[in-house]
Amino acid sequence: MTKSFKTFLKHTAKDFHNQSVNPPVVRASTIIFKSMQHIRKTQAKAQKNPTGGYYDYGRQGTSTTHILQKILTKLEESYHVFTTPTGFGSVFLAIFSVVRPGDEIIVADPVYSPTRLLTQDYLKEFNVKTVFYNPSDLKTLEKNISKKTKLIFVENPGSNTFDFQDLGKIISIAKKNKIFTAIDNTWGTPYYLKPIKLGFDMAIVSATKYYSGHSDVMGGSLAVNKKVFGKVKAAERITGLRLGPDDAYLITRGLRTLDVRLDRHRENAKKVAAFLSKNKKIKLLYPFKKDSLNFRMWKKYYSGASGLMGLKIKAKNIYSVRKFVNSLKLFGYGYSWGGFESLALHQEFRETGKRKYMNLAKDEHLVRLHIGLEDPNDLIADIKQALRHLK
Ligand SMILES: Cc1ncc(COP(=O)(O)O)c(C=O)c1O
Repeated sequence: MTKSFKTFLKHTAKDFHNQSVNPPVVRASTIIFKSMQHIRKTQAKAQKNPTGGYYDYGRQGTSTTHILQKILTKLEESYHVFTTPTGFGSVFLAIFSVVRPGDEIIVADPVYSPTRLLTQDYLKEFNVKTVFYNPSDLKTLEKNISKKTKLIFVENPGSNTFDFQDLGKIISIAKKNKIFTAIDNTWGTPYYLKPIKLGFDMAIVSATKYYSGHSDVMGGSLAVNKKVFGKVKAAERITGLRLGPDDAYLITRGLRTLDVRLDRHRENAKKVAAFLSKNKKIKLLYPFKKDSLNFRMWKKYYSGASGLMGLKIKAKNIYSVRKFVNSLKLFGYGYSWGGFESLALHQEFRETGKRKYMNLAKDEHLVRLHIGLEDPNDLIADIKQALRHLK
């Protein structure tokens, strides 16, 4: 019987050996064997079948991390998924796997600001040049390709400004020029967008967000196709970037309800977006209004939308924007997103970093809302009372 992914998520990873619905947390540095022959046999099996879940040392994982990797590989429809201690660890691992001194990389201008720091500043010290492209004008990507270009790094949608890009076009440009591709797919997750199926070599998700869903664990996943598997495996080994079993357990537990939560985040966000779209002072940075390029690009590639949105607010007085945010009673103020609870942030330079293509007028301000799983009518009422302060 073919099962849908929703059913698979509920029924997988049962532990009939221990008679438990959920798999046990297997913590180990030393993996114990019956004999030296047993060690050698396991090592030979690992060499023959490198995705098969054979380990001879705890740094390679235990059955707890392997179960999570198997679930994510099915969700991503990828060749394999590596798991890292944070989402940013997966960003680093993707880049470190394929980029070497002397190479050039092309990066989407609105990437998560630590990704910008890593590529623009840190990699420069290792003689890697980074060029940023405009997410809504892919000519800026094409014209910067040189013989040295090794990687195109996409984040979709872009952080803070939520720009949706023509992903198919980016892949065809990369393939034509034999360049590796990576995408940060934390916003949509493979529940709504499957980048490896689309043609990307690597796809990153911060598991800290929707995978865990409860704001109590950090982790990252890096899905790969067969072409880059060996390179990422080698880099993973040398960097030691491996998720621990306790965190893997919590992320596996969160994944059980990924579909239910994301469907609800989407429905709630849609209701909040409908309310906000009527406000003349606000430009919604969320795929809601059908006439925009962003909406078309989202519709072309995604099967749904998550709960994170941006508001571009026109207000002469920046203090009134702060007052609006500070007056929200049901939204917490804090970093991260993807948990069950709503969050709000005023996005200033610290969050966006210095971008090349961000056109923000003096009287325009960015606010980010994460729409959680509360009753959307309560969230709308809360936003309504806080909006009184905008001037
Ligand atoms: C788009 C995006 N990618 C990657 C990360 C990094 O994930 P983590 O916080 O798990 O390291 C974040 C964190 O906010 C993010 O927003």
